[in-house]
Amino acid sequence: KSERYYRFVLEDTEFTRLCSTKTMLTVNGCFPGPTISARRGDRIFVDVLNQGNYGVTIHWHGVKQPGNPWFDGPENITQCPIQPGKNFTYELILSTEEGTLWWHAHSDWSRATVHGAIVILPALGTTYPFPAPDAEETIVIGSWYKGDVKAVIDEALATGIVPNVSNSFTINGQPGDLYPCSKENTYRLRVDYGKTYLLRIINAVMNEEQFFGIAGHSLIVVGQDGAYIKPIPTEYMVITPGQTMDVLVTADQAPSYYYIASTLFADGANVPFDNTTTTAIVQYNGNYTPPLSIPLPTLPGANDSSAAASYNSLIRSLASEDHPINVPKEIDRCLYITVSLNLLPCTEASCAGPTRIAASMNNVSFEVKAIDILQAYYKSIKGVFEKDFPSEPPRYFDFTGNVSDIDVTTARGTKVKMLNYGEAVEIVFQGTNLSVEMNHPLHLHGYSFFLVGRGKGNFNNEIDPKSYNLIDPPEINTVALPKSGWIAIRFIADNPGVWFLHCHLERHSSWGMATVLIVKNGSTRATSMFRPPVYMPPCS
Ligand code: C2O
Ligand code: CU
Repeated sequence: KSERYYRFVLEDTEFTRLCSTKTMLTVNGCFPGPTISARRGDRIFVDVLNQGNYGVTIHWHGVKQPGNPWFDGPENITQCPIQPGKNFTYELILSTEEGTLWWHAHSDWSRATVHGAIVILPALGTTYPFPAPDAEETIVIGSWYKGDVKAVIDEALATGIVPNVSNSFTINGQPGDLYPCSKENTYRLRVDYGKTYLLRIINAVMNEEQFFGIAGHSLIVVGQDGAYIKPIPTEYMVITPGQTMDVLVTADQAPSYYYIASTLFADGANVPFDNTTTTAIVQYNGNYTPPLSIPLPTLPGANDSSAAASYNSLIRSLASEDHPINVPKEIDRCLYITVSLNLLPCTEASCAGPTRIAASMNNVSFEVKAIDILQAYYKSIKGVFEKDFPSEPPRYFDFTGNVSDIDVTTARGTKVKMLNYGEAVEIVFQGTNLSVEMNHPLHLHGYSFFLVGRGKGNFNNEIDPKSYNLIDPPEINTVALPKSGWIAIRFIADNPGVWFLHCHLERHSSWGMATVLIVKNGSTRATSMFRPPVYMPPCS
């Protein structure tokens, strides 16, 4: 096990895409940002120097940080932002993660331009649970806004309406051949005939799930969210914002060019989405005449829910002798959390109407405070958060029923759920059709959880637990809650600290679709969280 050091300089950089130029925040001038490479169990130090114009934090998405929430990163949840001109050195403690994770800014919408891959190779002396690939490549799917991203969300929050959608998706920072002024720079994956490539695919898109595929080539999905899975041969995959997928692709077709494409999966939601298709090119090495037209993969349509559901149902943990899993069979605590879009009464003059769009968990629209919750918890600072996040939704709330006679308005609050160290937790998330029905990619910090069940309609406590997979459920950190359906997750609360739980659609998170789990210390030093580093960024 070794220590690795990185230096990230956050700086404004000029980029030109879709025929127009803008200045945007980047890490080391790169978009996507630099890849962090490590081996299982390593410790990584990343010194982040902020040369931008506003405070920013960085989150290490999927790194569990055992006992170490101080370096998890979400702004005003575990730390205050790193102010312009200041630096902060993050410490990443890798434990059981292996495969692909990613890092991104966790302040406002700055993650649109501030993100990159975390590649975690097997520990020295161990290998992949599949034949070793000939080469590896990182594929980051992103969102491109012609304008300033911070302005997009600032304006939407001021007026209470839906933020503008992005102007295109990108693969490794490029919109691809289907867009103006983009052809020259389309990302190319150069391959040798007969070789197998491990693609580490990250969905860094701001607000949309994606269908992804490569013309003429089958995908074999072998990992998700920093853990291996039973191999899934497939023609396409679904990937939600926040998720990562490890995919083997063999260059076994006639040497030529083939499109890689990524496009919207909206699951029928009737709201504005970016529905562009971004492309990259698989280009075989060798002597041949480039094709006149490059084939596109056939991907499911944007509303093809059954294509998405059938892909998702295939994902199973490896759960082998070498990769054992530890799914709780008995549960100490069960939470039932409804996830919905709502309205809030407008209080600001700038508001576009009497109400503004909001979002909630158990009808609490999460309000971020000026002091981070971790510090407030550690130092017992009063007035920052309350410990009364409800374990069940309000009773009168028939979330999936007829919405015509119920109140869709919600209230803001900074409410957290306290959990005891070591308890076996089950959370059932229930999707709702308040305001609008759609999927929510839910992400929990500090943990990987087991997705033991998923279904349509209202969760039924009598029947649905019988269908749980307690043998080889996927062990992941982000999962799409199907619209007006439910999912059940389980985990052992063995990582003490303050952990954010939120929808990874950025607009929903900005509207308050979030809460915080505080896992209390155990009775020993080894089961307690670390002391804070002396140099935490101060809160203003
Ligand atoms: Cu990928 Cu709270 O984030
Ligand atoms: Cu959501």
